[in-house]
Amino acid sequence: MSQSLVRVGFVGCGYHASLNILPSLRFAPIELVAVCDLNRGRAEQAARRFGAKEIVPTANDLVSRKDIDAVFVVGPPSLHTSVAISAMRAGKHVFMEKPSGDNLVQARQIQQTARETGRACMIGFMKRFADTYSRAKTLMSETAFGHPTHIFGRYGHWNMNCLHDHLVYMSVHLIDLVRFFMGDYARLTAEVNIRNGQYSFAISARFDSGAVGNLVSTAQQPRVQERVEITGERQLIVVDNLVNLEIHSSSCNGLDRNIELSDIQTYRPDFSIPNLNQNNLWFQGYAGEVIHFAESVLAGRSPVPNADDGVAVMRIVDWLEHDPTHPLELPQVEES
Ligand SMILES: NC(=O)c1ccc[n+]([C@@H]2O[C@H](COP(=O)([O-])OP(=O)(O)OC[C@H]3O[C@@H](n4cnc5c(N)ncnc54)[C@H](O)[C@@H]3O)[C@@H](O)[C@H]2O)c1
Repeated sequence: MSQSLVRVGFVGCGYHASLNILPSLRFAPIELVAVCDLNRGRAEQAARRFGAKEIVPTANDLVSRKDIDAVFVVGPPSLHTSVAISAMRAGKHVFMEKPSGDNLVQARQIQQTARETGRACMIGFMKRFADTYSRAKTLMSETAFGHPTHIFGRYGHWNMNCLHDHLVYMSVHLIDLVRFFMGDYARLTAEVNIRNGQYSFAISARFDSGAVGNLVSTAQQPRVQERVEITGERQLIVVDNLVNLEIHSSSCNGLDRNIELSDIQTYRPDFSIPNLNQNNLWFQGYAGEVIHFAESVLAGRSPVPNADDGVAVMRIVDWLEHDPTHPLELPQVEES
């Protein structure tokens, strides 16, 4: 693309859009052209706060406009599907919030449309861009870490309306984050606890790489907290609740060895003074994902995570929702 800014139309100006995504646009090479929401007041407020020149009545009005290169959609999951598909068919690139559709069928429709149209279609799994997680990913690529052997991931949160909401709004984050670190899942088994209509899943995973892992996704926890432990041949990386990163190293083997304090390195962001990098939009990954999308579009590259990543996650959501008592075997190359 020869221009310097991606011209964006924005659909869905609710809670998450107003708190995290619209405020992140200013960090990216983006011009916000028009906004749209079923609730006119929300669209007006978004236009005022984030400098959109126009408010349009419906998503259809927006996707057909010639002065827009990309459409953002941040709404109910089925809206992600309908807007993404019509926008890509109209030649627009798409940034959609997670989940990629309301179910596996919709995620595949999005994937198919992205393949047919060749448009960029990014899914908002922002944890990949979060400060501590992107540092952990970089550390994993260094020789000192060795090959990844095991991962533990827990994403626990308050009660949800139903199993479906638990999976498509919350578990998708953990499923994608673990795949980001470890690569494709090959085989999964799950144990399920149901109490007062709330679910906990304890999942065992094997990855294509041969590494193994355990994931816990629960809606039976009073607070939203998460933890990831990634084990390599020579290091253990722990990220606790996004704010604490530890690297445990061991330079030799032996049961009687004293662990030196210098074998444990920690990173904690500085929150005590206003600091762009520790602003939650950067720290939690929202600014990073939006910048990555815009820069990819301008450079003619495909942003990641994309519609294929959306399908990879929704296959596991579909299994957890409908058949978690049987193991899930995932072929390495999925039929299209
Ligand atoms: N990544 C994250 O951290 C994170 C956090 C919260 C929510 N989310 C995602 O963001 C999305 C929105 O969640 P929310 O909590 O902001 O919901 P919300 O209900 O506050 O916002 C959704 C907005 O979409 C609008 N809308 C619905 N149908 C529409 C249509 N046909 N045309 C135009 N506008 C329409 C609604 O009026 C509403 O303003 C969800 O998909 C959720 O998964 C992500």
